[in-house]
Amino acid sequence: HPGGPEYGRPVGFRPVGDNTLDAVVVPNGYDWSVTIAWGDPVLRGAPEFDFDDQTAAAQREQFGYNCDFVAVLPLDRRFDRALLWVNHEYTNEELMFRGWTGAAGATRQQLRIAMAAHGGSIVEIERVGDTGEWRPAGGGRRHNQRIHTGTRFRVTGPAAGSALLRTEADPSGTAVLGMLNNCAGGTTPWGTVLTGEENFHQYFGASADVIDSTTAARYARYGIRTTTGTERGWERAEPRFDVAREQNEPNRFGWICQIDPYDPRSTPQKLTALGRFKHEGATTALTADGRIAVYMGDDERFEYVYKFVSSGRYRAGRSARDRRHNLALLEDGDLYVARFTGDSPAAEIDGSGRLPSDGLFDGTGEWLALVVGGESRVDGMSVEEVLVFARLAADAAGATKMDRPEDVEPHPVTGTVFMALTNNDRRTPAQADEANPRATNRWGHVIALDEDGGDAAALGFTWRIVLVAGDPDDPSTYYAGFDKSRVSMISCPDNIAFDPSGRLWLATDGMPGSVGVNDGMFVLPLDGDDAGHLRRFASVPVGAECCGPCVTPDGRTALIAVQHPGEEDGASPDAPASTFPYGDQPRPSVVTVWRTGPTGGPYIGD
Ligand code: FEO
Ligand code: CA
Ligand code: CA
Ligand code: CA
Repeated sequence: HPGGPEYGRPVGFRPVGDNTLDAVVVPNGYDWSVTIAWGDPVLRGAPEFDFDDQTAAAQREQFGYNCDFVAVLPLDRRFDRALLWVNHEYTNEELMFRGWTGAAGATRQQLRIAMAAHGGSIVEIERVGDTGEWRPAGGGRRHNQRIHTGTRFRVTGPAAGSALLRTEADPSGTAVLGMLNNCAGGTTPWGTVLTGEENFHQYFGASADVIDSTTAARYARYGIRTTTGTERGWERAEPRFDVAREQNEPNRFGWICQIDPYDPRSTPQKLTALGRFKHEGATTALTADGRIAVYMGDDERFEYVYKFVSSGRYRAGRSARDRRHNLALLEDGDLYVARFTGDSPAAEIDGSGRLPSDGLFDGTGEWLALVVGGESRVDGMSVEEVLVFARLAADAAGATKMDRPEDVEPHPVTGTVFMALTNNDRRTPAQADEANPRATNRWGHVIALDEDGGDAAALGFTWRIVLVAGDPDDPSTYYAGFDKSRVSMISCPDNIAFDPSGRLWLATDGMPGSVGVNDGMFVLPLDGDDAGHLRRFASVPVGAECCGPCVTPDGRTALIAVQHPGEEDGASPDAPASTFPYGDQPRPSVVTVWRTGPTGGPYIGD
């Protein structure tokens, strides 16, 4: 971006300290504002938010709950207008409704409000003056959209129309209503958003036990109910969420979705070629021969890291024809899952986190084929089965069970792929391996992966752990070899992002429970003497996890999604644990952070 920061810019801010404040805290020389909060109007004519008079009809036109992935896509050359994309991952009914006693006691209106608060939002935003601050351009702009459980999606790729995806309401197996539990995501070079359906299992109840053993085994691998019961009660509002009545409905969730924010009339897609699992997110890289690689994590304990490589090549042209071509690129390609092999003797990996004698947790790896050239590489599974039950296919392939793979994202310049492994408190010392070297890993770690020959289409790679998170005083932690007395404490890395000067930003989910301080956003410099000098840039309020994060293409603005502020045991509207952002009921919000200080540069991180 013209006028953006040069590559390799040093970090200059004084870190935000560990805290448990009910506030967003940013460094000196920065300011922040609420950009948009749960309930704010998105569509034309949407009513103002009224906590005590919520309706599903209003919620379908207002900003949803629990904002997670954030992307900013330019609307003009000067970058004074842009589109804000935000995921709405899930809902905290105990904080949304007074007197909430659980799903069994929910009214249908409450169930429908919760359903409408899921999905995503697209909001036109504009720059405030010549600052780094942004605000909504006003309700009902042309591009504004709310995607929720009633929004129609088109299923694309090899499993579209499969018998595994057909239901009574959709005998074609190609049209799904809604996306669920969208966590992280990425953007594509052609200006679309990729967003991952994560813990979709929780939305399905069962009015009777699942008795067919094949279906029960498939359900069990994804954590879907096989016995009578419900967690969220949605089947009372829509029978398709009852697996005893609609066995295939769960197969229609757990995908990467593609949204075109520039075309409000477009139908969003579910991309079956990328496989079905509890998707954290999806990020792209260009291969040496111009195809698109997509990196993806399956966020659950002992799950896998995947890669998709498109069959077709990306077209950089701006014509409508090129865009149509690119919009279909992720419908066809090869799917792989990662196996990590350490280079140190197994006896040196004892689960303590102690570095092996070669001084690094590192090694080589391979991308194991699941689908290549349109054919299944897994014995006994068809292509459709491999894609719909990708976890079972990856089990059969012998992939490496990781400590909850969250964001997996290639560095935009070096191509090194960084992956956040958020934690895994269930790994035993005997299950420790060099890529997941710590037993009872409550604090998580970060792996850097380099594809062989620097080609995102490669089938082999090398890797090294750059961060073993947790209290720097804990001997099992490792901050890229940097002096640990000078770093900020980080735990449970979740979402990651790069700024235009190549700095790695990390957001956390789980610091309150693992190290006793609020979650936040951190920078990890990757180059020079400062490499590994991790610093806390922002902290989020009580009970919140820190999502996004996003640094805009001009480097001047950071956006943070404050997800589930006040999510604490026993908290309720009558006893809120947080009053963020407006001093009353907590509201998940996207905040904008920008530089105001008189010294240093104008960019985030300076
Ligand atoms: Fe929704 Fe994996 O965090
Ligand atoms: Ca080693
Ligand atoms: Ca996440
Ligand atoms: Ca998480």
